[in-house]
Amino acid sequence: MKPYIILNTAMSLDGRIARKGERVVFSNELDKARRDDIRKSVDGVMVGINTVLIDNPKLTISEKREENPARIIIDGHGKVPDDANVLNDKAKNIVVVSIDAEPYRIEELSRKASVIVCGDDEVDVVKLMDELYKRGIKRVLLEGGGHLNKSMLEANLIDEIYVSVAPVVIGDGVNLVEGVMDERKLTLAGIRQIGDMVVLKYFPKK
Ligand SMILES: NC(=O)c1ccc[n+]([C@@H]2O[C@H](COP(=O)([O-])OP(=O)(O)OC[C@H]3O[C@@H](n4cnc5c(N)ncnc54)[C@H](OP(=O)(O)O)[C@@H]3O)[C@@H](O)[C@H]2O)c1
Repeated sequence: MKPYIILNTAMSLDGRIARKGERVVFSNELDKARRDDIRKSVDGVMVGINTVLIDNPKLTISEKREENPARIIIDGHGKVPDDANVLNDKAKNIVVVSIDAEPYRIEELSRKASVIVCGDDEVDVVKLMDELYKRGIKRVLLEGGGHLNKSMLEANLIDEIYVSVAPVVIGDGVNLVEGVMDERKLTLAGIRQIGDMVVLKYFPKK
């Protein structure tokens, strides 16, 4: 069994979700509210470790721990800093490492999060699905970045996609999907204008 996975991302008109090594905010307030509505509907919000290291996101919707979805950090080598916002006590935290992570690091992280060891040099996202489902995480919001988006799309794990396009062009940067992959066809399921942004909804063809 696997959780239902929703990919949500904001990007520039030229398909970048950030400048390399930087956080860029593309969403307007309406788009942030739309994203928070999705966060309210899921059991977990998943991000890759580079997103944590660069953006230090909170991934919460409330100050009350019980109202926030679990934070799921895909972190092959256990690099998430102990003082990262995603490890604070405002939500249930899950750090997913590979067997490459040092045992002492797993021990340290276990004080602030549930640690799942899954995969050899990188996190095996396919195996992880079953593990999350068993833990009651049946609906997940995937919030990037580009490398994690690619792994999840490539493994056919994504069920629904929202892309908010901002009225800006930035040139080089982090792509919505980073790296080479086989083509995945999508079905357009909706177009909505919110303020100066356009939100596109797609279903991947299985
Ligand atoms: N605009 C938006 O909506 C939005 C949303 C999120 C992020 N971002 C931006 O995206 C950028 C970061 O994206 P990114 O592509 O560099 O990194 P990322 O996807 O956040 O993290 C990728 C890292 O996760 C680890 N990982 C472990 N197992 C993996 C697997 N199976 N598949 C993929 N990654 C795995 C790897 O690091 P290890 O080898 O160290 O484990 C990998 O380098 C930031 O600049 C951030 O601002 C933008």
